[in-house]
This record gives sequence, structure tokens and C-alpha cells, in this order.
Amino acid sequence: MSDEELMQMAEKARERAYAPYSQFTVGAALLCSDETVYLGCNIENASYGAAMCAERVAIYQALADGKDSFFKIAVCGGKGHTDAPCPPCGICRQVLLEFCRNDFSVILKDAGKIVSYRMDQLLPVSFQKNMVENKG
Ligand code: THU
Repeated sequence: MSDEELMQMAEKARERAYAPYSQFTVGAALLCSDETVYLGCNIENASYGAAMCAERVAIYQALADGKDSFFKIAVCGGKGHTDAPCPPCGICRQVLLEFCRNDFSVILKDAGKIVSYRMDQLLPVSFQKNMVENKG
């Protein structure tokens, strides 16, 4: 699936965002290695800290469905119509890193143009699971 097609799915998912507090709606579309796609949108709460980002909604849905290998994720968002990219927050970067392949990429749209980043660009000098894994 092309980056553009995945972004279109993220834009569709964004329509389902529940963001009455920030008015900042986000959509995500996660392409698994088996070619299935999981969608996510941000879901806020009157107890603000309970809000969940679109990227984590997508990856947690996929994980709960038994998926364990991910190829790329498209993310879009903002307040109303925007041409600005919506890069994943720090927590989402850490969560994506935990489960993604080495060649995983994050697809954004900047002024109508698709841009793509590898995880090591988005989260350099990262805290990685092999540092805390129990071996043997
Ligand atoms: N948000 C996301 O869904 N993903 C991000 O990576 C950044 C922030 C949401 C959380 C909150 O509902 C709103 O955007 C404003 O922060």
C-alpha cells in the first residue's frame, strides 16, 4: 500500500476523533506486515489525563488482535483544516519503538507533500527494550 493511500485512511480515521476539549483531532492508519490496516483516532476524556492518542489506539488495537509486525504508520491531525504535519508525541514514539520493525516508517503530510521518517530519526539515542530484557 502506498504512503498516500495509507494517509487517506488516516484522514478518514481522523473524522472519528473525540476531542471536545482540545479540538485537536488526530487520525492514524497502521500498516501491518501482513498488509492489514488498523485505524486509530484520539479519544479524550473529561478527566484530561485519560486521553489517548490516535497512534496508540491503532497499535494497541492491532496488538490486541494478535498482530506483531508493523511496516509503517500514517498520522495526520490538527485543529480543523491544517496543512501542517502532525508528528507523533514522545510517548507514542516510545510505544511504536517497542513493537516496530527496524525499517518501520512514520508517514506525515507537510503542505500537501508526503514525508517519511525512520524511528531512529524520530527518537535518536532511545531507551530500548533490549536494555531491560531478561535474558536466560
Ligand atoms: N494527540 C494524538 O492523538 N497524537 C499525538 O501524537 C499527539 C497528540 C492528541 C492527544 C490529544 O487528544 C490532542 O491530540 C491534543 O494533544
